[in-house]
Amino acid sequence: MSRVTLSRYLIEQTRSNNTPADLRFLIEVVARACKEISHAVSKGALGGVLGSMGTENVQGEVQKKLDVISNEILLEANEWGGHLAGMASEEMDNAYQIPGKYPKGAYLLVFDPLDGSSNIDVNVSVGTIFSVLRCPDQYLSQNDSLDEQAFLQPGTKQVCAGYAIYGPQTMLVLTLGNGVKGFTLDRELGSFVLTHDDIRIPETTAEFAINMSNSRHWEPPVSRYVEELLAGKEGPLGKDYNMRWVAAMVADVHRILTRGGLFMYPRDSREPSKPGKLRLMYEANPMSFIVEQAGGVSTNGIERILDIQPTSLHQRVAVYLGSKEEVDRVTAYHQG
Ligand code: F6P
Repeated sequence: MSRVTLSRYLIEQTRSNNTPADLRFLIEVVARACKEISHAVSKGALGGVLGSMGTENVQGEVQKKLDVISNEILLEANEWGGHLAGMASEEMDNAYQIPGKYPKGAYLLVFDPLDGSSNIDVNVSVGTIFSVLRCPDQYLSQNDSLDEQAFLQPGTKQVCAGYAIYGPQTMLVLTLGNGVKGFTLDRELGSFVLTHDDIRIPETTAEFAINMSNSRHWEPPVSRYVEELLAGKEGPLGKDYNMRWVAAMVADVHRILTRGGLFMYPRDSREPSKPGKLRLMYEANPMSFIVEQAGGVSTNGIERILDIQPTSLHQRVAVYLGSKEEVDRVTAYHQG
């Protein structure tokens, strides 16, 4: 049986009019950058890439060397190809302008270059998350610098979202809005090969993911729901639940796409001005697009995440995503 590589899959999408050629090129370049990041991550101590930079990003988080390296790899790979009007990243305060010497294109690329980077030094899975939006026409001037407003579009406007996970295998999981495909990196071929043709999240689950150490800060609906989960068979939900927490959203979401489950990062009382820890534009939106395309559900406890109108590039949001039955239940607890 001939193997379907990412390139072949994308060419077939273009032939059937699902993917314009410039979007295909953009995804190929992002995938190539992810291969390079995978390589850097896998070198670990041998490549001198572990540890911190001694700097902080705009969120006040300590930057790991690999956060900065991965950010550079994605910027350099994507700035020259002529398919982008601009980029934005967790690691940069402001939007990245395509240098004047390169042509500009129709798309915007938003990414978290290395999600879960506190896992790097302990050799646990990390990943890259990305989202592609169309740049609205009014911002498409060749000369002016790109206004940050161009990026502030709800998640429903994404034309593509994906992540690469750097774990025991490196995988690229992708949606173009017509289902979810998973590709595994064949290191001998140097290509991503289609291995998961139609990823679906089961509607029901008996597994949840949450950072329990924050429980004293949770709001009442979350405390009630997690108490019910922990009560198991004897409680109101009538079954025993298992818990997993990798502390890298990519890895937790990947598990949910593989065998179902519920991922929660609620808003809590520690910093009332910040609704949750995760970022809307380059964590919650792309993952919500993928989860919905796999038949799952994603909300902030009140509304569908993809419907939220962003107000800033690094905006935070509460996240409940995964198997429909449990996301619907915890969302209903918030609503009433
Ligand atoms: O980007 C933030 C992140 O690393 C996510 O990937 C992950 O789900 C979460 O933070 C882990 O948070 P905590 O440190 O509270 O376990």
